[in-house]
Amino acid sequence: MENNIMEYDTVALDDEKSAVVIIDQTLLPGRTELISLKTAQDIWDAIYLLKVRGAPAIGVAAAMGIYVLSKQIQEEDFGDFYDRFREYKDYLDSSRPTAVNLSWALKRMEAVALKAGRDEGKSVAEVREALRREALDIRDEDIRVCRKIGENGLGLVKPGDGILTHCNAGKLAAVKYGTATAPIYLGHEKGYGFRVYADETRPLLQGARLTAFELHSSGVDVTLICDNMSANVMSRGLVQAVFVGCDRVAANGDTANKIGTSVVATVAKHYGVPVYVCAPTSTIDMETPTGAEIRIEERPDREVTEMWYKERMAPEGVKVYNPAFDVTAHDLISGIVTEYGVARAPYSQSLREIMEKKHASSGLL
Ligand code: MRU
Repeated sequence: MENNIMEYDTVALDDEKSAVVIIDQTLLPGRTELISLKTAQDIWDAIYLLKVRGAPAIGVAAAMGIYVLSKQIQEEDFGDFYDRFREYKDYLDSSRPTAVNLSWALKRMEAVALKAGRDEGKSVAEVREALRREALDIRDEDIRVCRKIGENGLGLVKPGDGILTHCNAGKLAAVKYGTATAPIYLGHEKGYGFRVYADETRPLLQGARLTAFELHSSGVDVTLICDNMSANVMSRGLVQAVFVGCDRVAANGDTANKIGTSVVATVAKHYGVPVYVCAPTSTIDMETPTGAEIRIEERPDREVTEMWYKERMAPEGVKVYNPAFDVTAHDLISGIVTEYGVARAPYSQSLREIMEKKHASSGLL
């Protein structure tokens, strides 16, 4: 009998085999298959093809990935080692543009390499060891951060509430609790009896294939709905809050998340349902002033026309527009739930305060 999906690591390091091990999420929920990524191309492809996806999970995979690649660099002089390291870093960073966690994790790894090798004059072997520890710290930190987001988010809802979520911001998008699902899992542990509505999330079906799968496997009361049903369930009073994840939060609170999130937020505003964006501070990008400056990934036509269908469902040659994310304007968001508390409007001020709180604690929760 197959194990429960919750018992598998979304991303793990196999140091002995020098590999990043992931669940191939393109095969879920039908098949749970672990794959080992050893080369730069393997890691790039896995991120681009969404075998590993979700902002925090991409960050952890990239951190472990650059460590694994650092073991393949032969150069023993730090300057030469660093040149090769930079090439790998830039290559991995080019795999997906919207989720800031990817470049955030790679920058963190680069800073560790520079501190150890350049500033402290350590050997390349010692630099590698520092990189290994940092990659594992990034993974462990994600568990603590998501748990805190869960605690902070749980205070915004009450037992028996209906919660709508879009895409997958769950364990499969992170390490353990997920972000948008963290309040749901913590509430479930406490017997809150939430009713969750999971949007199927066209075109890649992360809601149907991943969110419905992990919540159902965990015994959470989850109902799968199509993306165009949110107004129906909200108008019937079935939803008391929307919890979603995010890929990048701009300094003014505008938020990029999976395509369709802004539709849900617009409908929620109409029906007076609060929308909470669950965001680890690693997803907050104070360097990007507003949502207009966030680069939105566009993906291949076939994801819309034929992927997941038995046969093509659109005429050959038809024009397709397939942005992977959209920006939800800050005035549609009721709160941004971070590990350091819930930011409220005006976000340019509250997000700054959250980041100051983080720096004051040296990033230690
Ligand atoms: O294209 P994906 O599947 O990587 O998109 C994922 C999302 O949009 C998630 O909501 C976001 O990354 C937050 S995951 C905690």
